[in-house]
Amino acid sequence: MLGAGGHAKVVVEALLTMGHIVSGLVAPEREGTWLLDVPLLGNDDVLPRLRAEGIADAALGVGDNRLRGLLAGRLLAFGFNLPCVLHSAAWISPSSVLGEGVVVLQKAALSADTKYGRAALINSGAIVEHDSDIGEAAHIAPGCVLGGNVRVGARTLVGIGSVVRPEIVIGSDVIVGAGSVVVSDVPTGSEVMGCPARPRARGTAFTELAT
Ligand SMILES: CC(C)(COP(=O)(O)OP(=O)(O)OC[C@H]1O[C@@H](n2cnc3c(N)ncnc32)[C@H](O)[C@@H]1OP(=O)(O)O)[C@@H](O)C(=O)NCCC(=O)NCCS
Repeated sequence: MLGAGGHAKVVVEALLTMGHIVSGLVAPEREGTWLLDVPLLGNDDVLPRLRAEGIADAALGVGDNRLRGLLAGRLLAFGFNLPCVLHSAAWISPSSVLGEGVVVLQKAALSADTKYGRAALINSGAIVEHDSDIGEAAHIAPGCVLGGNVRVGARTLVGIGSVVRPEIVIGSDVIVGAGSVVVSDVPTGSEVMGCPARPRARGTAFTELAT
């Protein structure tokens, strides 16, 4: 498994609920040597050797969206399979379609006819309602609720506990701040927060006060 930080711990435990054996972690040495009794095998340089030794399946335990997306491509290029990590306590509709390396954690609920791009992360207790489409390496953080037919672009983070109204389109590389209520579409590359969610104002208040 790639990663050895806090998020990796959660993914290791999810893999164990699925009955997998986690042979080891691949991460920068500074992240430690062991995690939940799973040894750190080295950094990315060991990947070709591990593949040659017969390790066929890899999992993504990295929280950063951009990095997770890049690493997914790298693992596939090295010839690893990227099976989904689906915690045994998650609810996943049989009509949902999951790309390679999708991670779904405990108590998440993936509703009917929803789609998830490669390396998407649906965190603990998040609810994704019917017909929604979550992009590659996007992250729906713990406790979010997305209404029906919501679109979330690649690498977007929907922060902890956010609510997204049905039919909303959120672009790629967006950050939705924790606890936001998204009631209108969000353009690619922006950062929104609050209730209702609005773009982050950069220094406007100070400028207004000063003039
Ligand atoms: C939105 C976010 C990215 C901003 O982080 P940041 O750039 O470090 O921002 P700061 O903490 O410096 O706060 C900047 C301002 O925005 C406000 N703010 C920050 N996050 C906010 C949020 N979620 N909702 C409303 N206001 C917020 C702060 O109060 C501060 O306001 P001020 O300038 O009037 O004092 C971050 O707060 C956030 O919500 N991240 C989501 C984390 C998450 O869910 N991760 C998933 C982990 S599983």
